[in-house]
Amino acid sequence: MPEVDLPLNAPAPAAPSIATGNILVIDDEAGIRDSLEVLLTLEGYQVKMAADGEQGLRILELENFDLVLLDLALPGQSGLELLPQIKVLQPELPVIMITAYGTVDNVVEAIRAGAENFVQKPWDNEKLLADIRSAIARHRAEEENVQLKRSMKQRYSFPNIVGKSEVMLRVFDLVAQVAPSRSTVLIQGESGTGKELIAKAIHANSPRRDKPFVPINTGAMPSELLESTLFGHVKGAFTSAVSSKKGLFEVANGGTLFLDEIATMGMDTQAKILRVLQDRKFMHLGGIQEIQVDVRIIAATNVDLRQAVRDGRFREDLFYRLNVITVDLPPLRSRREDIPPLVQHFLDFYCNENGLPARKLSADALRALLDYDWPGNVRELENSIERGVVLSSGPTIGSDLLPGHITGRSFQDALLEHNPNASLFDILEDIERRIIIEKLERCNWNQTDAAEQFRIPLSTLNQKIKRLNIEIRKRGRE
Ligand SMILES: Nc1ncnc2c1ncn2[C@@H]1O[C@H](COP(=O)(O)OP(=O)(O)OP(=O)(O)O)[C@@H](O)[C@H]1O
Ligand SMILES: [Mg+2]
Repeated sequence: MPEVDLPLNAPAPAAPSIATGNILVIDDEAGIRDSLEVLLTLEGYQVKMAADGEQGLRILELENFDLVLLDLALPGQSGLELLPQIKVLQPELPVIMITAYGTVDNVVEAIRAGAENFVQKPWDNEKLLADIRSAIARHRAEEENVQLKRSMKQRYSFPNIVGKSEVMLRVFDLVAQVAPSRSTVLIQGESGTGKELIAKAIHANSPRRDKPFVPINTGAMPSELLESTLFGHVKGAFTSAVSSKKGLFEVANGGTLFLDEIATMGMDTQAKILRVLQDRKFMHLGGIQEIQVDVRIIAATNVDLRQAVRDGRFREDLFYRLNVITVDLPPLRSRREDIPPLVQHFLDFYCNENGLPARKLSADALRALLDYDWPGNVRELENSIERGVVLSSGPTIGSDLLPGHITGRSFQDALLEHNPNASLFDILEDIERRIIIEKLERCNWNQTDAAEQFRIPLSTLNQKIKRLNIEIRKRGRE
């Protein structure tokens, strides 16, 4: 099975039909300089010449090059002495040494000092051109990678958020821009697109970062409970209020309150939230004293809030209060170029979490991921990679370890492909292993629960886990 070369997020450099690049030749022999100039210029390179080290360094200080061809036996300063000085000027610049016969020791030393390669006089033109091409291509790919990382780092400090698509880069810009302010932010996006992750990034990049980030799923609670959770209550405010309790608005004081799934909040609660948004004041349920807080609000929704307003399910005034700044998170299927770097990110994360050596995806597994529609967005991708890592027994995760609905393959197909020459006994073991891992995942790796649901004694499950070499993972991510 063909494998994908890492890093997944660096596009393979395209081989240009005409060679491009700036090459500096440093050699004291005019004949050598001339023949190299002809050879390289005909190939398409820009070529500069220097007859000694000093001249070479001067040129290097003024211009950027893609490669240096450096004579080892220069008069005055030898090539070997020059090499470290070149490396100081341009540390990543590939240098190919030109040597005469019988200077093997010097060559070894030069390679140790950072030379890329060497060519012996008289050289074979084709081989020299091939060496130059590959050195330049490698150098460019490396530089591109460094630059990508540098620009990401400079612009944002969101270490766990991955994305290189134009839309996500714009999201990162917006987040970086709004984070320092106190403005209310509304994050919209389908389920699993990273709304909570972005909300946390906004908080972490704000001056409030040392104060609490308090998430609350406003859609999951009945109105009364939600209100007492948000605003707190005094003793006796309602029958079960046996003591007074602080609300999350107070808990989040100085920090950020993340109101998740805001669209499903009841109309009454919406009115109360609106009031806090207007003047940052509220009262405990059953209380008479106004409490002032300094809380930044970030809200999230996976439905179209404008539509909810039109349908009369969401207050228009609250919508405008929340919608000061909107961050739209696009679905994963509309930014497929983010899939390879996300895959790499989750591979690294889950291999590390499971104490496994690095894993990579087979080319057909990656293709399947690129072709799939991702209704569950990044969360679904993350789960697929986690599963693949846990199920894998070698360095490469094949498409047979991806869920069947992603690859379009049945469970049986996947098993038979994974074990083309295995005995029935081995295949049955593989099934047992997968089913046990799946159950453990669903039980959050609680073995007692899993054994109970399988209706087998815990000791039997333990024996199977040992026999099948199943790594017991720590519980969930958070
Ligand atoms: N750009 C990204 N880079 C890295 N991880 C991401 C990215 N986007 C999402 N994730 C991961 O995907 C999972 C889902 O993200 P999150 O919980 O933020 O989504 P959500 O939009 O809040 O989903 P829901 O609507 O279902 O609540 C998380 O584990 C998160 O870390
Ligand atoms: Mg969420």
